[in-house]
Amino acid sequence: MNCFNQSSGAFLLPNAYDLKIASSIIKSGNLVAVPTETVYGLAGNALNESAIKKIFETKKRPLTDPLIVHVHSLEQVFSLTHLSHIKNVDKLFEAFWPGAITLIFPKKPTVPSLVTAGLDSIAVRMPSHPVFRSLLKLCNVPLAAPSANPFAYVSPTSAQHVRDSFGLELPVIDGGTCLHGVESTVLSLLDPIEPVVLRPGPVSVEAISSVLDLKVKSSQDVSDPDTLSRSPGMMKKHYSPNSSLVLFDSPEDLREFDLGSSVVICIQKHQNLFPAKEWVFLSKKGDINEAAKNVFSELRKWDSKYDKIYFQRFPNSEIGIAVNDRLKRAAAQ
Ligand code: TXA
Ligand code: MG
Repeated sequence: MNCFNQSSGAFLLPNAYDLKIASSIIKSGNLVAVPTETVYGLAGNALNESAIKKIFETKKRPLTDPLIVHVHSLEQVFSLTHLSHIKNVDKLFEAFWPGAITLIFPKKPTVPSLVTAGLDSIAVRMPSHPVFRSLLKLCNVPLAAPSANPFAYVSPTSAQHVRDSFGLELPVIDGGTCLHGVESTVLSLLDPIEPVVLRPGPVSVEAISSVLDLKVKSSQDVSDPDTLSRSPGMMKKHYSPNSSLVLFDSPEDLREFDLGSSVVICIQKHQNLFPAKEWVFLSKKGDINEAAKNVFSELRKWDSKYDKIYFQRFPNSEIGIAVNDRLKRAAAQ
């Protein structure tokens, strides 16, 4: 598959030698899983159709679901997009990039239409993770990278999660656990007067509105089927474990349930109220960002071990909005 011998089972490490190997794998049209500040990504050359095909095939992702293209410089953004008509776009770059927000612009013809699933728009992100940034610089091409999970399964937040899904065949750079543990905010700027957040994430609607100095819509405000159909990843069911997932607000709500063969996952440490097989606490002190970081790893850890996973909803503000969005889709039938 590539020039790197995977049989040792070792991860690629975030050092100059291994990053050079990773960049040569990508330059040869193959894929490498990479750490980002949100979740691990499955990266390939965004301008190479055969690499893009491999991304869709590896994930078993439908060709109708477009990929995010990652860049290390604004020059790369200008080479991929039309954005001169968007007021204050430079303020967005300054405030949030590099970082956990993906921006959707009209695309230039240089971008293969396979990447954007035939749409005339492109999603771009300048990540802040130092390892991914070094790799982007070494490759010197934009890298398409969806989350490195099989389509519709729980996103990966560690190198081992990627290995668990794809085995030794796929080279993975181990950059530790992800800072946010939740995918980037996706903001569509296709209508510059009315930008809309298609996917909530670490950068909030309020923060974007304040930088742009105009009211930004959240995905919940959008009922227009045309806008919704243009973000194919906003599926009702997604991020789903195999075990059945039941959401609750307060542990007190579980009083009536038979929890004998279930795991109960709560945000903050407290006394186990009722007998359950396992009680898990996402953050000892109830720190919402720390708790968010652990959501996907706990879903993966307990998946298929128990028939039911009971999961506490987050307070509906800041990163909690993004987590609740993922939990709702993960629990959907
Ligand atoms: O944090 C992240 O964004 C991670 C890391 C690896 O960067 N990537 C990620 O990619 O979450 P993915 O493919 O799992 O999710 C991308 C989302 C999908 O819902 C997709 O439908 C949407 O972005 N998307 C991509 N291009 C789009 C476009 N042109 N218009 C509307 N939605 C788009
Ligand atoms: Mg994904």
